[in-house]
Amino acid sequence: MELKQSIEKRTSIRNFMDEPVPFNDLKEIVRRAGLAPSVNNSQPWKFYVITNKKVLSNLAGKVSEKIKELPSNKSIAAKNVKSQVEWFATFFENAPAVIAMAMEDYETILEKGVNLSHEEINKLRNFPDMQSAGAAIQNILLSAVDLGYGACWLSAPMMAKESLEKILEIEKPYHLIAFVAIGKAAKPKEPRSKKSLDEIFKLID
Ligand SMILES: Cc1cc2nc3c(=O)[nH]c(=O)nc-3n(C[C@H](O)[C@H](O)[C@H](O)COP(=O)(O)O)c2cc1C
Repeated sequence: MELKQSIEKRTSIRNFMDEPVPFNDLKEIVRRAGLAPSVNNSQPWKFYVITNKKVLSNLAGKVSEKIKELPSNKSIAAKNVKSQVEWFATFFENAPAVIAMAMEDYETILEKGVNLSHEEINKLRNFPDMQSAGAAIQNILLSAVDLGYGACWLSAPMMAKESLEKILEIEKPYHLIAFVAIGKAAKPKEPRSKKSLDEIFKLID
């Protein structure tokens, strides 16, 4: 598929057909993720591809537990908010495959010459580690469309990050960043409407 078409067709898919994603497609998607730009070409990532239903259910269970533990406020909406968030944070358990992305801290050239911590430099540079992660995840989403799948980026499950890292055996210096759920879409879905070009484009000539 042409890149333009993949970009225009992409939309977040959260309901999937019960059909596995072939191993070679998953490998190809991760290969393309690894081609993304990263700060200092540090390629600070690892991708854990999960297709085991029990593991997915275990992960989702930990996320549900964590959401239930969050302190509720006294609003009438509180209960609904939690169940809504729970769905958006756990639907990945019904996906044929989930790619969990882990990152390690990168070392910048600056770090070697100035007396600032990694965290301070990261903040000064506007979180290039997260920006690198975003580039790789977008490659995953677009490659999924290109290969005939739907996908959805998830950060909500990261609320239970520590428990999820234990299950996936992600150890320091790596830490979990995001999930991407992948599979054939249960039904066709039109992309969501977006802001007009006029609203987002400003030329500084
Ligand atoms: C950083 C990031 C985190 C997201 N986390 C979640 C999530 O936890 N659960 C979810 O259902 N969707 C999540 N999404 C998907 C967004 O809700 C979705 O991209 C947005 O509503 C626009 O819809 P579209 O992707 O169909 O254009 C996330 C997207 C991004 C970029």
